[in-house]
Amino acid sequence: MADEQSDSRGEARQSFFAKQQLINAARAAFQQLSAIARNASLYPLAHPFLLTSADKLRNTIEDLLLGRKEVAFYMVHGELFFETLSVPVDQSLALLMEQFTDKGVGGIVFKPGLVSTELISLARLMNNDPSFFTGQGGLIDAIAHEGIEHMELHRVLLVDKKAGGAIKEGKKKASEVFQDAIDAVKEMVEAVHLDRTTKMRKMNTVVQTMVDNILDNRDALMGLTSIKMYDEYTFAHSVNTAILAISLGTYLSFEKNQIAALGVAALMHDIGKVNVPNAVINKPGKLTEEEWQLVKRHPIEGALLLSDVPGVSKLAMVAAFEHHQHNDAFGYPKVDGDLRQHPFSQIVSLADAYEALTAARVYYSVQMPPDEAVRILLAKRGPTFNAVMVKAFVNMIGIFPIGTLLKLDTGESGLVMHQTRDLMRPRVLMLDKFDGTEKETGNEISLLETAGGNYKRTVTGIINPYAAGINIKQYLA
Ligand SMILES: [Fe+2]
Ligand SMILES: [Fe+2]
Repeated sequence: MADEQSDSRGEARQSFFAKQQLINAARAAFQQLSAIARNASLYPLAHPFLLTSADKLRNTIEDLLLGRKEVAFYMVHGELFFETLSVPVDQSLALLMEQFTDKGVGGIVFKPGLVSTELISLARLMNNDPSFFTGQGGLIDAIAHEGIEHMELHRVLLVDKKAGGAIKEGKKKASEVFQDAIDAVKEMVEAVHLDRTTKMRKMNTVVQTMVDNILDNRDALMGLTSIKMYDEYTFAHSVNTAILAISLGTYLSFEKNQIAALGVAALMHDIGKVNVPNAVINKPGKLTEEEWQLVKRHPIEGALLLSDVPGVSKLAMVAAFEHHQHNDAFGYPKVDGDLRQHPFSQIVSLADAYEALTAARVYYSVQMPPDEAVRILLAKRGPTFNAVMVKAFVNMIGIFPIGTLLKLDTGESGLVMHQTRDLMRPRVLMLDKFDGTEKETGNEISLLETAGGNYKRTVTGIINPYAAGINIKQYLA
């Protein structure tokens, strides 16, 4: 088993590095494109600087084209994607992306046969004002007129009311997936001592759908985790934890089958609680020492329950056992020797903690706002949580996670709907009042918007939606 595990860890490491290499190459391509665009505005068409930078990019694209029919980049809400990989964006890349978005371009596809002069033509076109293209069908049609054959531009995927239909549909699907997952966990919990094989099959299917859904639109399902349910807390907690864990797995570019195993592990992490009396699990207020000892057994109970379920990855058992162990192994259950949490356990324990911190429980009148929970995770990196994982988690979820209600310096307020490249400047849905009868204004805007070189709106604080009597569910579900 030790060999088997180190093998699979070795493979995971290899595929992780392969992905990182791909991300780096994709990033280099975009940086080179930005260099060409800059050079095209400074030097004449046949200048060696311009030609050299175009040749460099052509080489990078050719490398990326090995084993591919085309090399496609997409820009979605200020994020850059190469295939399904998220590419980190710095200031200069963000600027180039804005230039594309301003011209209505949301995707660039390079095809085999690409020549350097085509790249220079694109760069020259890029340097025109968006108004230059009015009446010519925009930059997208302009490249055809220029005779650029080995490149295709795609339109921006608008995430606003114009594309409302498509987005609403995505969200509806997300909430169905969420409900399916709750039902599956419920059934699994009820049947834990009975026929687990069938239940596990259903669980795997549900998790697969969750993974597909999150790969499709991470924000839609993550938005749902900010809606807390009072009545079905335990189930909702497991499902939310799974959504967050799967999201982090996709963010870290894990393989799809690894992400699915991680999802199952996260859904099942607290299964051991079925062997702890309900009165103790749901007890409001402080537990007695005896009760606390019972609660602390749930990782062991969980690992035991999962140890002999056919069709469930052993990693689910490991994650159940280790999810309260902490990064320094000073959590519970106590173990001898130098235990280091498996990365799956690190992810599950982070997702679990964030979920629990922001959860609404029957006996808490006030729920912790997501940004405060993020601050707590940051404060606990090192001893409790793996620091690298915390960093990735915070980058993914944002300083103002989806569902956070923000106070803006214009006197307006907005509900966070998507993250952008700037953690302090998400896309928000503008709301018009705070008494529970509020209406969405229909405007989803980005806090990255500027006017005359200054940001139009800046966050000045956070409004607690529960205290303000706002039901954020209607906007996110
Ligand atoms: Fe737990
Ligand atoms: Fe938990």
